[in-house]
Amino acid sequence: KPVQIIGAPVDYGANRRGVDMGPSAIRYAGLAEELANAGVTAIDSGDLTVPRAEERDPETEEPREGKAKFLRETADVCSRLADEVADAIDDDAFPLVLGGDHSIAMGTLGGAARDAEIGAIWFDAHSDFNTPKTSPSGNVHGMPLAGALGIDDFADTDWANAPGLRAENVVLVGLRSVDDTEVDAIRESGVTTYTMSDIDEHGITEIVEKALDIATDGVDGIHVSFDMDWLDPKEAPGVGTPVRGGVSYREAHSALETVATRNEADGILRSLEFVEVNPILDEHNETATLATELAASALGKRIL
Ligand code: ARG
Ligand code: MN
Ligand code: MN
Ligand code: MN
Repeated sequence: KPVQIIGAPVDYGANRRGVDMGPSAIRYAGLAEELANAGVTAIDSGDLTVPRAEERDPETEEPREGKAKFLRETADVCSRLADEVADAIDDDAFPLVLGGDHSIAMGTLGGAARDAEIGAIWFDAHSDFNTPKTSPSGNVHGMPLAGALGIDDFADTDWANAPGLRAENVVLVGLRSVDDTEVDAIRESGVTTYTMSDIDEHGITEIVEKALDIATDGVDGIHVSFDMDWLDPKEAPGVGTPVRGGVSYREAHSALETVATRNEADGILRSLEFVEVNPILDEHNETATLATELAASALGKRIL
């Protein structure tokens, strides 16, 4: 199955400019070569057209309770991304989405969960379970899981909801920054959470194996959403919301190699995305470079 690369140069959902350059930075870091070396056939369908944030007024969205900056722009781009992802899957390609901030996951999941029951693994320091009503920041990149699952004020937000995404098949791995406003929603939702402490105690392989068991149980496929701030900021400095105490370089590869091994056995992986690469905050594009290597690991790169 060929991989179809889809860039989503979006920064509406983040508190810092620059993450919209993520898709360029990841391509410049050598994604095509890295995938070719891994024996993966990839077609690059380019970037979605995304108007600059500066041309928009963040406060112009329809009045609603709470705050969510650029919600209308996010809705537009996520709807178009969902269509592209669904089309890729229809064409029997494998969508690899490059962000952009994490708000784009509502588009990727929306497309992957169209006419299919799916699970998801969320590799992230954060739980991204806020809603416009609860968000302390108003930044939509802190909301995509709540949006995709249709939680609280996202219940009737069609563009955000991923129809076939089942909360009981959603697993968050490596959490270390959860807002007070997110805790009850996470507990009530039925998702499974593994924190960094769980990884400390059991090791990355065991936690990812468990996450795969839960995510794949009874579904047609799974989406893997990979926020680069899952890694420790020493390994991935080019992110907008770094949190100390993240996974190491080797643990990140190991996690995705575990996903790849499972996928080789059962073909369960349906879509993949890497988000939150911000080249302005990066050191010599190393976070983007890491994203290319991690994509290759997820798609089956082997040493021998
Ligand atoms: N929890 C914080 C918020 O809601 C940070 C979210 C960071 N999310 C991300 N995808 N980097 O504003
Ligand atoms: Mn995130
Ligand atoms: Mn994050
Ligand atoms: Mn154990």
